[in-house]
Amino acid sequence: MVAFVNQKGGVGKTTSAVNIAASLARRERRILLVDIDPQGNATSSLGVERADLEFTIYDALTGDADMANARVTAVRDNIDLVPASPMLAGAEIELVDSDRRERRLADVLGPILPDYDVVLIDSPPSLGLLTVNALTAAGSVVIPVQCEYLALEGVSQVLSTIDLIRKGLNPDLELLGVLMTMYDGRTKLAGHVVDEVRRYFPDHLFSAVVPRSVRLAEAPSFGQSITEYDPSSRGARAYVDVADELLARLAGSNS
Ligand SMILES: Nc1ncnc2c1ncn2[C@@H]1O[C@H](COP(=O)(O)OP(=O)(O)O)[C@@H](O)[C@H]1O
Ligand SMILES: [Mg+2]
Repeated sequence: MVAFVNQKGGVGKTTSAVNIAASLARRERRILLVDIDPQGNATSSLGVERADLEFTIYDALTGDADMANARVTAVRDNIDLVPASPMLAGAEIELVDSDRRERRLADVLGPILPDYDVVLIDSPPSLGLLTVNALTAAGSVVIPVQCEYLALEGVSQVLSTIDLIRKGLNPDLELLGVLMTMYDGRTKLAGHVVDEVRRYFPDHLFSAVVPRSVRLAEAPSFGQSITEYDPSSRGARAYVDVADELLARLAGSNS
């Protein structure tokens, strides 16, 4: 189980989770994509309409529905989705007083895990209770980082959160990798940023880098992954490489 985490918004968490899911599905892996962001961007990126949903992750976390009923099966070949809606913002408050509040996601996902080869969790742009749930359920973390000035600012906060979670809730949590996104090869800055991040994370930087690509930004508005919207684009090819690297990293870890 892999959580995509960065408390900064707009760094490519959702784009990465959705497009890696799509690439892995084409590799015949059975994927569960879990949307634990009240903005529900992963949900809408796959064209799933809130109005059509009887249950969402909110109902599973608060105990109103089984995860088996909250998931939307076969949103694509080999992909099931646990959708999110704005109601999820309320769960953050409602769960505060409950037992095992940090472990709710782990608890409710447990029974359906055998159905999948890889579970990907798209988390919100904060390090609040929902992200803590993602980090407690997951075996490993991918931190997407935008190729921009001060890219590393904020990553240290994710790392200290990972440390805290390891000390208490999830001792085996691993950093699977740092993924550079929105790389603009025309600027010198982008190259410098990647070099700097590599110095900080020599063992953890994904060698595949996701380019800045209008096609990647357009695909969600059509409810499509990049492999559906424009499979020959640079963005699509990058995410195929990222997904293959993720599989290799997972094989070398114990998550
Ligand atoms: N590689 C990319 N090139 C161009 N636009 C991108 C790229 N990755 C993401 N975007 C766009 O940038 C915005 C933020 O990305 P998103 O994945 O939603 O970030 P997050 O989930 O971290 O908030 C979205 O509009 C998305 O379509
Ligand atoms: Mg997002």
